[in-house]
Amino acid sequence: MKKIDAPNTKAYRLVYPKLVVLVSCIDPTSGKPNIITVAWAVPLSINPPMVGILIAPRRYSHEIISKAREFVVNIPTIEILDKTIKCGKVSGRRHDKFSEFGLTSKPAKVVKAPIIEECVAHLECKLTDQITTGDHTLFVGEVVAVYANEGVFDGEFMNVKKSRQIYQVGGDSFTTLSGELYKQET
Ligand SMILES: Cc1cc2nc3c(=O)[nH]c(=O)nc-3n(C[C@H](O)[C@H](O)[C@H](O)COP(=O)(O)O)c2cc1C
Repeated sequence: MKKIDAPNTKAYRLVYPKLVVLVSCIDPTSGKPNIITVAWAVPLSINPPMVGILIAPRRYSHEIISKAREFVVNIPTIEILDKTIKCGKVSGRRHDKFSEFGLTSKPAKVVKAPIIEECVAHLECKLTDQITTGDHTLFVGEVVAVYANEGVFDGEFMNVKKSRQIYQVGGDSFTTLSGELYKQET
């Protein structure tokens, strides 16, 4: 098969589609909550449980998470695609994304940042490290509480038929999984 070169600056697009998450946080000074849409989120460790999110330094959420040292990774589904995209188009510096986009903030179990009720799963995180990676910052979070809507997580797997998570293909293109599972017999 002939291999076609792609520009190096488009390398990240070859590891798409990526699961889209909504990260909620709260400004410790003003007490104002915020939401940022993030496609660059990644598990970093099983035990201790750790996840990473990558945020560009100019984002308001970058400032908040650096100060508050905690955040929540919320998993949205296709039913709230429109709100999920909107949270990724405007800045919390000038907008209240919870009220403007009709998303509900609910108290988290451990951290001060609220969870987003309309999402189906939530990972509350305390910041343990902050690493500059080129033009983004990797925020390393230790997961301190994790829970999901009934029927969405069976203790082992996310139910991809029940909750259709959003995957970004690139730019303004999104997809979901069909729910078909391919299992290797052992
Ligand atoms: C689908 C989607 C995925 C995004 N993924 C990221 C990401 O991984 N990292 C990032 O820094 N910005 C990402 N963005 C852009 C931010 O969500 C956007 O700049 C947002 O308005 C920042 O809000 P804030 O200034 O309130 O923090 C994404 C936007 C969209 C629509």
